[in-house]
Amino acid sequence: MDAQLEGFLNQLGDAERAGGRVLHELTEQAASLELQEMLRKVGHDEGYYAGEIAAHTRRLGGNASNKTGDFVEKVRAAGDFRAKLELLNRGQRWVIRKIEENLAAVNDDHLKAFLVVMAKGHHMNIGALEQALKDGLA
Ligand SMILES: [Fe+2]
Repeated sequence: MDAQLEGFLNQLGDAERAGGRVLHELTEQAASLELQEMLRKVGHDEGYYAGEIAAHTRRLGGNASNKTGDFVEKVRAAGDFRAKLELLNRGQRWVIRKIEENLAAVNDDHLKAFLVVMAKGHHMNIGALEQALKDGLA
């Protein structure tokens, strides 16, 4: 597998594992049950993406990372709960940007379709958390 593609996928996977961990921690801190459920769902999505990325990496002959990105520490260090959620969404936007930057170089149609769906899923989850912040759930 192309080293650049492998590096990109592993970077994404590390970020998703970090996102999953962050969301697990934020779920425990959420003040309302509705927000807890929302964060739990977003966290499951992150775990799903991380697993799928590893599977695609292996399918294409690469070595899948199992590291967790340093984003976890950044969110722990962020101020209050709201600030953590806003930082989470900034991280999610970074993932969309990375996918957009790398998509043209992906030759495998199955992986490409997965990445498009992953970017769309991130858009939806960002929107859901932004709405929760507006609604005063956090
Ligand atoms: Fe993510």
